[in-house]
Amino acid sequence: MKIRAATKADLGEVFRLELGGFGEHGYPDFFIRQALDLWPGTLLVAESEAGLVGYALGSMGEAKEQGWILSLAVDERQRGMGIGKALLQRLLAELAQRGCCEQRLTVHPNNPAAGLYRSLGFEFETEEPDYFGPGEPRQVLLRRG
Ligand SMILES: CC(C)(COP(=O)(O)OP(=O)(O)OC[C@H]1O[C@@H](n2cnc3c(N)ncnc32)[C@H](O)[C@@H]1OP(=O)(O)O)[C@@H](O)C(=O)NCCC(=O)NCCS
Repeated sequence: MKIRAATKADLGEVFRLELGGFGEHGYPDFFIRQALDLWPGTLLVAESEAGLVGYALGSMGEAKEQGWILSLAVDERQRGMGIGKALLQRLLAELAQRGCCEQRLTVHPNNPAAGLYRSLGFEFETEEPDYFGPGEPRQVLLRRG
């Protein structure tokens, strides 16, 4: 399995992974296309013989030390094999290289992925009951380093 920056040719598959991970809460295809122009070094894909099996998107905040993990999704059939962790570790390294010594993400309070984030040093920062609208609570997790 190889992790590399996404290219324009990958975007259809990246959108499929986004839909598979987040359904109607996923980013639209046109946002993913623009993410490639905005953050080409932090739009990463995981590629195996089976094709693209996961992707991660990170970005820089207004302050240059603020990094955000905007998306992380692994093909349903390939989960539990370390791909998500590998993608996230690489993305954190890319953000750190760009001077982002704080990294944030949002996660639903019931999402078991929180365990993955905690294992990589993320800690609870805040919770908003309506982060993405009514009935859509999210915790903001923060990692320094
Ligand atoms: C979250 C997601 C990206 C994890 O990808 P993955 O490749 O299955 O994760 P990994 O195999 O790398 O697991 C890494 C660690 O997290 C744990 N973990 C990951 N997903 C988990 C889950 N759903 N339930 C319990 N533990 C989980 C694993 O046990 C593993 O722990 P370990 O390192 O101690 O062995 C994947 O489940 C996914 O795409 N989910 C849908 C989209 C989503 O919810 N994204 C996160 C939004 S905040």
